[in-house]
Amino acid sequence: MNPQPNDDKSPTIAVFSTLIERLSAQLIGRSALIERLVISLLCDGHILLEGAPGLAKTRAIKLFADAIDTQFARIQATPDLLPADLTGTTVYRQQDSRFEFMPGPLFNHVILVDEINRAPPKVQSALLEAMAEKQITVAGTTHRLPSPFLVAATQNPIEHEGTFALPEAQLDRFLFFVELGLPDAQEERRILDLLLSEDAAQNLTGQVLVTHDALRQAAVEIQAVHISEAVRDYIVRLVDATRGGGPGGRHAVHIEHPASPRASIGMARAARAKAWLDGRDHVLPTDVSDLCADILTGRIGLNYQARASGISTRSVVLDILNDTTIT
Ligand SMILES: Nc1ncnc2c1ncn2[C@@H]1O[C@H](COP(=O)(O)OP(=O)(O)OP(=O)(O)O)[C@@H](O)[C@H]1O
Ligand SMILES: [Mg+2]
Repeated sequence: MNPQPNDDKSPTIAVFSTLIERLSAQLIGRSALIERLVISLLCDGHILLEGAPGLAKTRAIKLFADAIDTQFARIQATPDLLPADLTGTTVYRQQDSRFEFMPGPLFNHVILVDEINRAPPKVQSALLEAMAEKQITVAGTTHRLPSPFLVAATQNPIEHEGTFALPEAQLDRFLFFVELGLPDAQEERRILDLLLSEDAAQNLTGQVLVTHDALRQAAVEIQAVHISEAVRDYIVRLVDATRGGGPGGRHAVHIEHPASPRASIGMARAARAKAWLDGRDHVLPTDVSDLCADILTGRIGLNYQARASGISTRSVVLDILNDTTIT
């Protein structure tokens, strides 16, 4: 990611550079998360954040949504949540004897689903269907969801009681799976200073930076970013390694569910958006390798032996990345 002002680049890139700069000033040590949020928005993707409480997950998504010309909704998942609490319901209006659809919180642009793994499977599948199809069906009528439509879901890795793990097939609908670590002491101090100065200012919401026009223009420009044969092959080698192919494929002994074609499509799209943000007209292999771990980790499932020996999905992905040649 290039945080420098892009004076000689397209005015649309400058808008997104300003967005990244603004978010970086308000989220200490979270540049990777910020970049992935922005790429998700540019690629029509969704993002799953995993991290302990208090690591600024909610803050990141709220600040991000505030800076874009979007309507924002927040859903706190609980075990008694019903699909209709998300999609909305059809109600009968006695005064004019007709049914009327009351849209639920999914009819917004940016949706924060806190603790998605607390939602029961029916709600998860309603949500994930909306994410994949960008539409929902209530009482036989299909309703288009607004565009952009970005689901940012969070889950807490510590608690397992009363939670419903997201099945692999559903995890595949997220473009990124970002694991947030704890800040170091220096970052902690900067967070403290920032929050104390915010307390004094008492005003966090900034003006909208990214308009719908900027998003449309960005999509056109990203579509023109060239992705070479060599980079396409590199993406395929990475995904194929999760299925046992090539030198990286030896790590597939740990894998029960390999990556699907959504992984390679996601990687190509995200790498294009990353190249564009950097002001380039072509994708470099490093665009792919930088994003690869956050794209593949959520999408592959380890087998029992690997899990029992304490191997993490991310470490398997990093091994694959290490052993897969760029050209
Ligand atoms: N990296 C950071 N930069 C700026 N503020 C931070 C950072 N990390 C934590 N904070 C501050 O810590 C507090 C907790 O953040 P937030 O509520 O967003 O956490 P969360 O990850 O959503 O937690 P939970 O899982 O409990 O909902 C906020 O006041 C936030 O400003
Ligand atoms: Mg939160």
